[in-house]
Amino acid sequence: MAILVTGGAGYIGSHTCVELLNQGFDIVVIDNFSNSKPEALERVKQLSKRRFKSYSMNILDSCGLDRIFQEHEIEAVIHFAGLKSVGESAKMPLQYYHNNLNGTLHLCRMMEKHNVRKLVFSSSATVYGHSEICPIKEHFPLTATNPYGRTKLMTEEVLRDLYQADSRWSIALLRYFNPVGAHKSGRIGEDPNGIPNNLMPYITQVAIGRQEKLTIFGDSYNTKDGTGVRDYIHVVDLARGHIKALEKIRNSTGVDAYNLGTGKGYSVLEMVAAFEQASGRNIPFSIADNRPGDVAVCYASPAKAKEILDWEAQIDIQEMCEDAWRWQLQNPNGYENEDNLVTLHARSANVI
Ligand code: WQD
Repeated sequence: MAILVTGGAGYIGSHTCVELLNQGFDIVVIDNFSNSKPEALERVKQLSKRRFKSYSMNILDSCGLDRIFQEHEIEAVIHFAGLKSVGESAKMPLQYYHNNLNGTLHLCRMMEKHNVRKLVFSSSATVYGHSEICPIKEHFPLTATNPYGRTKLMTEEVLRDLYQADSRWSIALLRYFNPVGAHKSGRIGEDPNGIPNNLMPYITQVAIGRQEKLTIFGDSYNTKDGTGVRDYIHVVDLARGHIKALEKIRNSTGVDAYNLGTGKGYSVLEMVAAFEQASGRNIPFSIADNRPGDVAVCYASPAKAKEILDWEAQIDIQEMCEDAWRWQLQNPNGYENEDNLVTLHARSANVI
């Protein structure tokens, strides 16, 4: 029996594949490589010293998906595949609803056809909208403030309806807070397309010389130092949360949501200081206006995942920064080939 991992070449997907393989699971990966690189899967094989089948395909390809379930004995699915930029979703909502919502409907119908009803779904803390109260608990009101968040919220509702209609389903909805860091080896990590939207990859690109300076969006929030506070969680801790969720759905039915966060909030300036400490690199920054849609403070209560999944984050902010830096230093250009590596290194060492 194998675990089907959709989007398995992505940032969280690749780290979860390493953990699955290390725990002895057999996996099958599908990915359309729209926001990831095949090289990530080669490195997953090197790190785990295990082989697995991977297919370049879109979850909307019904024939391809059918073939996967016919050719492999799939026990459960971990579903990462989807578009994930908040800003981009506001510019291209139809693509987000088609890819994220329709894609999941396609997947679930194929699972049903092949009598596979165990699913771990990649949801997001964004379903809490602008929660005024922290730490955020799973029973708090859900309200999305952008098309990306609405695709996650709607998908959660679809999956709850699915279980109501057929109680043989077993579904875990994992609400990620802010994933950062990389595998200790530095061989896999976050490799965003274009200019990073998120804080940590932007900081590491400043440190390596790909960006001139960090722009901090707002320093007059009602927080300890005026900058935004978030719950940053190491991507390996996040990956291990998926293994725990898989173990849960293997032995029970039902649908339930779990926060995957540390329960601690750090401000942007605290993250910058921690990264400078970890990397020995200075991160120049300037202050700009608040980013539209940002909340001041957002961090999780991880108590439910601890109690029910027997999972809690173990890795601290310093290690998150060290691991993120090791990945960026070893891969200045992400998974792209080694083009102009020398130039990049020289620039980051201020040689040119
Ligand atoms: C973190 C903090 C910014 C960039 C997003 C998505 C969420 C989830 C995680 C998918 C904020 C500040 C950032 C920069 C900055 N993704 N910042 N300068 O917005 O909390 O969450 O990613 O599920 O859905 O909304 O993460 O890393 O973009 O921002 O000052 O260049 O860093 O204002 O306070 P966010 P982020």
